[in-house]
Amino acid sequence: MFDTLITEFDKGLRTLFAPAQSQRPRPDAGLEEAELGTAEKRHAMGLMRVNHCGEVCAQALYQGQALTARNQQAREALQHAAFEEVEHLAWTEQRIRELGGQPSLLGPLWYTGSLAIGVTAGLLGDKWNLGFLEETEHQVGAHLDSHLTALPEADAKSRAIVTQMRDDELRHADMAHEFGAASLPAPVKGLMKLTAKLMTATSYRV
Ligand SMILES: [Fe+2]
Ligand SMILES: [Fe+2]
Repeated sequence: MFDTLITEFDKGLRTLFAPAQSQRPRPDAGLEEAELGTAEKRHAMGLMRVNHCGEVCAQALYQGQALTARNQQAREALQHAAFEEVEHLAWTEQRIRELGGQPSLLGPLWYTGSLAIGVTAGLLGDKWNLGFLEETEHQVGAHLDSHLTALPEADAKSRAIVTQMRDDELRHADMAHEFGAASLPAPVKGLMKLTAKLMTATSYRV
């Protein structure tokens, strides 16, 4: 258990401070950089910063859950999905910088909160752990869909990244469902939406 904690702590530090790696090619590889106006560029950057912050939270959630998952198969599935979240982290971070910005300063705060939530969900047992994961991925998928409307039409590169992430998140939700995710009570879903709103509103700005 102590070894696992050290490994997870190390992962946490890397999530926050080291550039994330991607195995798949970036979804926008080969697409031309658009000529965006200053306001459009700032807006796209703010949205990608929100998405990056979401991926920082995803790392923490998955780590918290993998720490506590009892079922070996579920743990492996979580680890595979977590790897794709690392790719999302890399794509969004690179895109923020290309748009002239930097990741949210509040990342460490959200990371810590999400890790605590992930561990708590994990301690409730696998079906609630997976239920929490499924609901998170559904909410993130819907949120990414809304960004496809909000992003500048011309910003094909950010749009390609967000589209691939949306598809991955929905696949993660299906995976959690297949492993026996329980359906969360409505008030819990509501609370999750509220927390996500707070995170998106703050990380768009700082
Ligand atoms: Fe993701
Ligand atoms: Fe995901």
